[in-house]
Amino acid sequence: MAARVLVLSSILTFSCFAEICYGAVSFSSLERTLVVTASHRQGFLIAGEDKITVAWGLNRSFPAGTDSTYRTIKVQLCYAPISQVDRAWRKSEDHLSKDKTCQFKMVEKPYSNTNETLEWTIERDVPTATFFVRAYALDQHNNEVAYGQNTDVKKTTNLFDIQAITGRHASLDIASVCFSAFSVVSLIGFFFAEKRKGGKGQQ
Ligand SMILES: *[C@@H]1O[C@H](CO)[C@@H](O)[C@H](O)[C@H]1NC(C)=O
Ligand SMILES: *[C@@H]1O[C@H](CO)[C@@H](O)[C@H](O)[C@H]1NC(C)=O
Repeated sequence: MAARVLVLSSILTFSCFAEICYGAVSFSSLERTLVVTASHRQGFLIAGEDKITVAWGLNRSFPAGTDSTYRTIKVQLCYAPISQVDRAWRKSEDHLSKDKTCQFKMVEKPYSNTNETLEWTIERDVPTATFFVRAYALDQHNNEVAYGQNTDVKKTTNLFDIQAITGRHASLDIASVCFSAFSVVSLIGFFFAEKRKGGKGQQ
């Protein structure tokens, strides 16, 4: 019994320890080794329609081997400070597992030691706000080990605005859903009415 408790408690201790080891990456500890750029048309970008072309790669002024632990690259769309004011659900936290700055994944793929680009159509669920793009390099344990972003440290340059799908679009979507539901119902109604008519005709 005592041995069992001991084993159990050491498993618990070990898993807590593992959690601390693997779960607590702070943003401020990451080195900015990735160069990230984002290009798009001028003006408000429309969710569901406009595209953003993102390019990323290792900053070659870092010594060779800097990226030896990089396994995965994760590129995300992130809220700029102006769109985080008074919105706790978008708050930046240094502790990355609690950070809510970057909520939209653009891509996650194996890291390669070359410049890469991606043309991303803004997803329809992106709300109206001001954004920037950030890429994280992840190691084999999926922990962030480096980053890059298309803006400066204070997140003031190269920001862009996205406009959510407009009310008109949304109500059109709702209208088309209602209309299709209505057509299905009326089709069924029509079918039964015809059947009844047919039945009467035979009598
Ligand atoms: C690459 O890294 C160096 C050293 O940190 C930095 O001075 C330079 O601005 C970086 N280049 C780009 C394009 O970010
Ligand atoms: C990658 O992009 C950087 C600028 O972001 C450029 O200086 C470098 O030459 C590119 N490297 C390759 C291999 O294309």
